[in-house]
Amino acid sequence: MNSPTLAIVDDDQDFSAFLMHFAERRGFAARRFHSVADATPWLASNDTDLTMLDMALPDGSGLDVIDRIPSSRHAQIVFVSGTDNADDIRRAVATHASEFIGKPLRRDTLERLFDQTQQRVQHRLQLLRRQCDPLIGESACMLRVKEDIMRVAPTRLGVLISGETGTGKELVARAIHAQSGRSGRLISVNCGAVAPELLASQLFGHERGAFTGAVQRHAGFFEQASGGTLFLDEIGEMPQALQVYLLRVLETGHIVRVGGSEEIPVNVRVIAATHQLDGAGTGYLREDLYYRLARYPIQLPPLRARGADIERLTHAFIAELNHETGIDKSLDRACLDRLLRHPWPGNVRELHAAVERAYIRSGSRLVDVVPLAAVGHGGDDDGVRFHVGMTFEEIEDEMLQLTLAHHRGDKTATARSLGVSVRTVHNHLARRRDDG
Ligand SMILES: Nc1ncnc2c1ncn2[C@@H]1O[C@H](COP(=O)(O)OP(=O)(O)OP(=O)(O)O)[C@@H](O)[C@H]1O
Ligand SMILES: [Mg+2]
Repeated sequence: MNSPTLAIVDDDQDFSAFLMHFAERRGFAARRFHSVADATPWLASNDTDLTMLDMALPDGSGLDVIDRIPSSRHAQIVFVSGTDNADDIRRAVATHASEFIGKPLRRDTLERLFDQTQQRVQHRLQLLRRQCDPLIGESACMLRVKEDIMRVAPTRLGVLISGETGTGKELVARAIHAQSGRSGRLISVNCGAVAPELLASQLFGHERGAFTGAVQRHAGFFEQASGGTLFLDEIGEMPQALQVYLLRVLETGHIVRVGGSEEIPVNVRVIAATHQLDGAGTGYLREDLYYRLARYPIQLPPLRARGADIERLTHAFIAELNHETGIDKSLDRACLDRLLRHPWPGNVRELHAAVERAYIRSGSRLVDVVPLAAVGHGGDDDGVRFHVGMTFEEIEDEMLQLTLAHHRGDKTATARSLGVSVRTVHNHLARRRDDG
């Protein structure tokens, strides 16, 4: 968990085996490679906290490796080499590697390197924890999301957040706004929950008399979010005609109120969210708008891919409930395995609800969390499990979760298949959120 990652590139098997062993004992996740061809593909597509590069390799040099890998992925690269070729050393020092260390590598030098790396990783983790609060998650994929949040927050780039239902898209939008340094407000609009005919006037405002009932001039969300951030949730639900207009607004930086003609400049950072993982080409989100919004795409992984975060979240939710009730309960560790195997179609929202249910029901100090029926793939589990004693709300909940999972989080398809409106689905999910 949160082990710093180390890559060793050295053709000396004994030396690299010793380093691996030493690093692992210090809590590093280490990997070793013995040639340029061996190391380059992995280092090109993975991140490391420390990379130790030898100079002379069987098929080239450490300089070839550093040339071919993105510096953004590797927090610190050091050369560790026995070469006395002054030219090579000069070239190594001229790269973005932080140090050239001669062999034999002294024990205290190695300790210093590892200490520095561990401290740097700890600092970074604490910073991400603090700055992305209340987003919980320290799995590698969630740390990447947090790094993305920190990187994009201070810019003006549009962000498109995608992820299944309940993965925390709204929390990410909040974290980006909180870290943006923008003094204005964050305004959230769920494009699927507002009646389509009202959405234009809600977003862009209207002039007095623009339509029946428009008795006063009204500033829309774009104006209200001036100097701040506008979060357009479920952007794929926005009617096509409005998508065309939104694109124009994003390009010109001006809006025109419904029923008006004055071009009003707006200084708004737009963040959008969708549960359609590849926004473009789905028939919901216009491709041109997709590219305009997705200057910086952030994809939230489903909960089932977050490993130990499931346990972290569960502890955090129990702690929250303890705080509210003044009782001191804790997680029954015997259920962890079950939690790790469950597919969590409703993601963090579903976990939150399961923890709450278990917390309230548990007669002892131990909370045994039982997820709702697992989603089978055409197997026996593919139905809603009902037993006497369940409340109507619980059955409704399970029905909704299973249908949502079946449609991969697509609320429109879920609504169609349950014979209710998309707004009913939204409202149900929002109620769960508010209850939680
Ligand atoms: N990483 C997290 N840490 C703590 N709480 C989380 C996390 N992710 C989600 N949650 C909680 O789970 C619930 C759902 O999160 P959120 O509303 O942000 O999801 P969403 O992706 O916007 O879902 P939807 O697609 O249904 O709108 C919220 O109560 C939120 O606080
Ligand atoms: Mg949401």
